[in-house]
Amino acid sequence: MGIKKYRILVLLFSVLLSLLIVETPTAAAQLSQNYYAGICPNVESVVRGVVSQRLQQSFAAGAGTLRLFFHDCFVRGCDASVLIANPNGDDEGHSGADLSLSADAIDLINKAKAAVDGDPQCTNRVSCADILAMAARDVVSLVGGPFYPVELGRLDGKVSTRAIVKYSLPGPTFNLDQLNSLFAANGLTQTDMIALSGR
Ligand code: HEM
Repeated sequence: MGIKKYRILVLLFSVLLSLLIVETPTAAAQLSQNYYAGICPNVESVVRGVVSQRLQQSFAAGAGTLRLFFHDCFVRGCDASVLIANPNGDDEGHSGADLSLSADAIDLINKAKAAVDGDPQCTNRVSCADILAMAARDVVSLVGGPFYPVELGRLDGKVSTRAIVKYSLPGPTFNLDQLNSLFAANGLTQTDMIALSGR
């Protein structure tokens, strides 16, 4: 895909991201832009620094990170459950569409988490769900899309199961009614769905 087309796509995708950030059912009322002000004040710049560095090594990690966030948010809300690895392999990452999630994107989030935890003030005090939400926003803006504020304070999920993925994510054979109803369940309109799915 050409860079110009990619930039247009990220502009469209950012609409979804901002909607998901507002609509996520997980503790939505407690989210705020300055959630980490007294906890880990530099978290935004640390995450952005890692994202910027990783994009220089792998430009494709940007698209992969955006897709990772989309897949996380559609399954149990934006709770980073997509990153959980169950010892028995019965986790989201081992199911259907999640099998093709980008290893570079997962690595990017792991690196961002490690960088955040590297500051003793922040260790284990910033959720992976928030790091993923910030990183998805950062890839959008760093490849030429808009920058938008991300509300923070999500809690990480503790549950990840294979079976739920196929009921939560759109499949390649979905018809219009199925797509509409799945996106509506995530607070998105048909117009949102069409704009976001165009490529
Ligand atoms: C509407 C229904 C959708 C379907 C059926 C769908 C399906 C797919 C499939 C099959 C791929 C290729 C995966 C592979 O490389 O094997 C893909 C890639 C991708 N999807 Fe979707 N998708 C949908 C919506 C979305 C939405 C709403 C977003 C973003 C908000 C999104 C973001 C992406 C991105 C960024 C990639 C490229 C990932 C990469 O290159 O690493 N998709 N999608």
